[in-house]
Amino acid sequence: MELPFSESYKIKMIEPLKRSTREERAAWIEEAKYNLFKLSSDKVFIDLLTDSGTGAMSDRQWAAIMTGDESYAGARSFFELKNRVKELMGFEHFLPTHQGRAAENVLFSVLVKEGNIVPGNSHFDTTKGHIEFRKAKAVDCTIDEAFDTTLDHPFKGNIDLVKLERVYSEYPKEQIPCCVVTVTCNSSGGQPVSIANLKAVYELSQKYGIPVLFDSARFAENAYFVKMREEAYKDWTIKEIVREMYKYADMATMSSKKDGLVNIGGFIALRSEEIYRQACTFNIMFEGYVTYGGMAGRDMAALAVGLDESTEFDYLETRIKQIEYLGNKLIEYGVPIQYPIGGHAIFVDANKILPNVPKEQFRAQTLGVELYVEGGIRGVEIGAILADRDPVTRENRYPKLELLRLAIPRRVYTNNHMDYIAAALKNVFDRRHEITSGVEITWEAPIMRHFTVELKKA
Ligand code: F0G
Repeated sequence: MELPFSESYKIKMIEPLKRSTREERAAWIEEAKYNLFKLSSDKVFIDLLTDSGTGAMSDRQWAAIMTGDESYAGARSFFELKNRVKELMGFEHFLPTHQGRAAENVLFSVLVKEGNIVPGNSHFDTTKGHIEFRKAKAVDCTIDEAFDTTLDHPFKGNIDLVKLERVYSEYPKEQIPCCVVTVTCNSSGGQPVSIANLKAVYELSQKYGIPVLFDSARFAENAYFVKMREEAYKDWTIKEIVREMYKYADMATMSSKKDGLVNIGGFIALRSEEIYRQACTFNIMFEGYVTYGGMAGRDMAALAVGLDESTEFDYLETRIKQIEYLGNKLIEYGVPIQYPIGGHAIFVDANKILPNVPKEQFRAQTLGVELYVEGGIRGVEIGAILADRDPVTRENRYPKLELLRLAIPRRVYTNNHMDYIAAALKNVFDRRHEITSGVEITWEAPIMRHFTVELKKA
C-alpha cells in the first residue's frame, strides 16, 4: 500500500478550543454588529480570520526567543536577522519594522508623493491605503484570468505586461515611484507569480527606469508554487528559487507575520543606499532605532529562524497540502471556490452562492456571518466592504470578485479541523436558496472601514 502524506512535524504544546451553540453565536454576532472582527476570540471555534501572526512557532524558534539580544543599538539578534535576509533575498540594506504596513508606511514616506501612480497586481488593502493616504493612485495590472474564479491558470498573480506598459507609457517616470508585485497575490486569492513574469516585469520596469518592489508577505509560498508549476525550477531548492525571485526586485516590504512564521514583525530590504538612508529617518520617527524598528530582540531572533524554516520544502509541502485538502473537500461538495487553490487560504465565491442577496447587501459578509452561526468559524470578507469607497466620488466600489476568505494559520489546525470547516460550509451551501437578504452598514470609518464597520440585518 502506498503510504499517505502526513505532516512534517509533531505537536509539542496545545491550546484548548471553546465550543458554543448556534443560539449563542447568533446572539454574539448580533452584538458584534455583524462584523466578525468585533468578536472576542473565545467566541470563535476555528479562527480563519487571517493567517497573519496566528501561526505556531517551532521549538527552534522558542529556543531563539530565550537567546534574543535586547540591546537598544546593534543587537546581535538584529545582525542574525539582517544576515538571514541578505542570504535569502540578496539585499544589502535592511530595516526592521513592527509589521508589514509599518514597512509600507516608512518606505512610502520616502517614495510616494501626491498625484503619483503605483501600478501592481491587486495591491493589498494596507498597501493601497498607504498609497491613497498620500493622495496617489494604485493601478491594478493583474492578468484578466485572475478575475474568473473557475479558470485554471498556474500563476493568477501574474502582472499583465500590456496593462503595465500602458501605465509606464501614459505617465512620466517621475510620477511612478515603483511597481508593487505582491508574492503571492493575496487580493486575487493567494495566487502565485511566476519567475518568468517577475523577470519580464523587472525588465520592462528597467526599460522605463522604474524600481520594482516586492510585497513579500508570502514569498516562500510563492517559491513553492514556482517549484511545483514552473518547469524550469522543479529541481531547485526553495532557497535557490527565493534567491532567483529577488534578482528581479529592487526593494521588498515584508509582513513577517506570514512567511516569517512569527506573531509580530516586518521589514524593509533594499539595494539603494540613498533610499535606505532616507527611510532610516522615517524608521526612527515611526518605528524605533534602525537596529530594532519596533521589534524586541527576541522577536528578531525568532524571525531569523522562522525565515529559515519557511523556506524549507517539507514545511511548505505540509502547509500548502493542508489548504489543498480543504479546497478539494469543498470542490467535492460542490462549493464554488477560487481555482486553482491558493497558498494561504480558500476563497469562497459568494457571488455564486448568494446571487439572491442584492450586491448592495454585501454577499461575502453575509456568507461569513452564516458560516459563523453555523459552525463558529470566522472567515473574512474580501469584497465590497473591504474595497471601500472611491476616494474621489465616495461611491461604494463593487469589485469583480465577492469572496469569503478562509485563511489557514500556519502549523495550527489539523485536517480534522479542515473536515469540520468543509462540513459547516456545505451546510450553509445546501440552504443557500433560503438566504435572500444580507446586511446593511449603519456606521463606517472614512478609510479601511472593514475593521470597524457596524452592520445590521437588511
Ligand atoms: N501585504 C500583504 C500581501 C498582506 O497580506 C498584508 C497583511 C500586509 C501587506 C500588511 O502586513 O498585517 O503585517 O501590517 N495581511 C493580513 C491578512 C492582515 O489578513 O491578509 P501587516
